[in-house]
Amino acid sequence: MTNSAKKSVFIEKNMRFVDRVLLLSLPIAFIFIFMVAANMLSASLAVISYATCVIFNIIFLFPITYELQQLRQYITALSKGSDVSSDKELVLEENDSREIINAVNAMQKFWSEKNDVLQAQTLSDTAVLDSLPDPLIMIDNVGKICGANLATRVMFGKKISNKSLDEVIFSNNFIEAVNRILRQESDSESLIFYLTKPIEQKLYAHIKKLPYISQDNAVAVISIYDLTKAMKIEKMQSDFVANASHELRTPLAIISGFIETLQTTAKNDKEAQEKFLNIMKEQTEFMSSLIENLLSLSKIELMQDTLPEGKTNLHKIIDDVSEALSLKADNNKTSLQVFIDDNIPEITADYNQIKQVVQNLTDNAIKYGTPNSDIIIKISRVNQIPPAQNQKIQSGEAAAISITNKGPKISDDNLARLTERFYRMQEHKDKNIKGTGLGLAIAKQIIIRHRGNLTVKSNAYEGTTFTIYLPLSLEE
Ligand SMILES: Nc1ncnc2c1ncn2[C@@H]1O[C@H](COP(=O)(O)OP(=O)(O)OP(=O)(O)O)[C@@H](O)[C@H]1O
Ligand SMILES: [Mg+2]
Repeated sequence: MTNSAKKSVFIEKNMRFVDRVLLLSLPIAFIFIFMVAANMLSASLAVISYATCVIFNIIFLFPITYELQQLRQYITALSKGSDVSSDKELVLEENDSREIINAVNAMQKFWSEKNDVLQAQTLSDTAVLDSLPDPLIMIDNVGKICGANLATRVMFGKKISNKSLDEVIFSNNFIEAVNRILRQESDSESLIFYLTKPIEQKLYAHIKKLPYISQDNAVAVISIYDLTKAMKIEKMQSDFVANASHELRTPLAIISGFIETLQTTAKNDKEAQEKFLNIMKEQTEFMSSLIENLLSLSKIELMQDTLPEGKTNLHKIIDDVSEALSLKADNNKTSLQVFIDDNIPEITADYNQIKQVVQNLTDNAIKYGTPNSDIIIKISRVNQIPPAQNQKIQSGEAAAISITNKGPKISDDNLARLTERFYRMQEHKDKNIKGTGLGLAIAKQIIIRHRGNLTVKSNAYEGTTFTIYLPLSLEE
């Protein structure tokens, strides 16, 4: 549409413009009427003069009114948030109108830039808060949650926004501390509190009053740190130290008892001396294997976050273990039968650690298996490692090393506890079979490091089978 066509449409639609022209011409009309009445001007001349005035008014007023209308439309569109940047047809002839539009455009540009910065800032603030590992909660002046980062939603549930804090965190001590802030009795509070629902947790909270009320009405911010894991580790460490010192105390007490006997009652008894010295030797050997296992366990724990490297040949491991345990197997009148599938490649694993696991499982099979029976060692290739709770398993193909011995069925209660540190079945303690109770705990840690799995099956007919699953290759 051309400019002139646009203007005519505009005039038709805006009759107020005609009204305005007539209104502006009204005083002149009165002057002409008065002059005609006073015979100062003839009626025909008055009508011609009045018409001339009206035409002049139209000529001068039209552009101004037209541009004002355009300006009004332009600014109305801007205020409604429409994109008017492409409105190239806005042609302004009056200097004042052009200046007004330039000022309005500059203002619009300024605020839209400011808005972009604010939007970017809000987005980056949200991303930063969501990337924090610990929960961060914002509350309003009545204790309602008005903001929460991702860690909070993970810990307390997705739909917590606008809920009252006491509907989400069930701890009287914590809510009381928050209320002290809301009642303006203090500016900050810190406390350790415990939750029993939905799971048992030990948490540390820091509640801080904000110096001003934020955009989303937050008056205080709460940061929470989960101390549950640290508490469990502390307990595990103290249990471990208690167990380790208890296990060491027993052989030490035996040794010191015999030393005393040798110094007193058995001072001149050659036969007793030899017998007691043999027992003392056995006990020191036990102590040294206990210390060795303890060191091995702590070393493995230190390595737990690094994936094993290097290629390991499982055939070689079986050869090494069979050789190391051949004498023990002979003494127990058991023989080791080995079956290895042809398609077993070298796997990504720590050679010495895997050898330690296979050696302990084979040693257990000899120690706890029925004498005069075979121990079957098999290696096969499987498509997937069976899933395990609370540990990372590598997907993809794996090698399965199974070690089976004959013997009575292990009860389900015992099966569930075999990999616990220092756990030994009562019947084996009663039979005085020596062991530290750490071999399977070490094996489990090694297998976790390799992202594999350890399973146990036991029944009276087939005996007991421990199977180690190890991925053929490991990926970060
Ligand atoms: N093949 C098995 N058959 C029956 N019971 C077993 C077998 N393997 C392990 N156990 C039971 O599990 C317990 C824990 O085994 P683990 O290898 O951890 O310790 P250990 O053999 O007692 O000590 P260590 O390995 O230091 O010699 C054993 O004491 C035994 O009671
Ligand atoms: Mg063992």
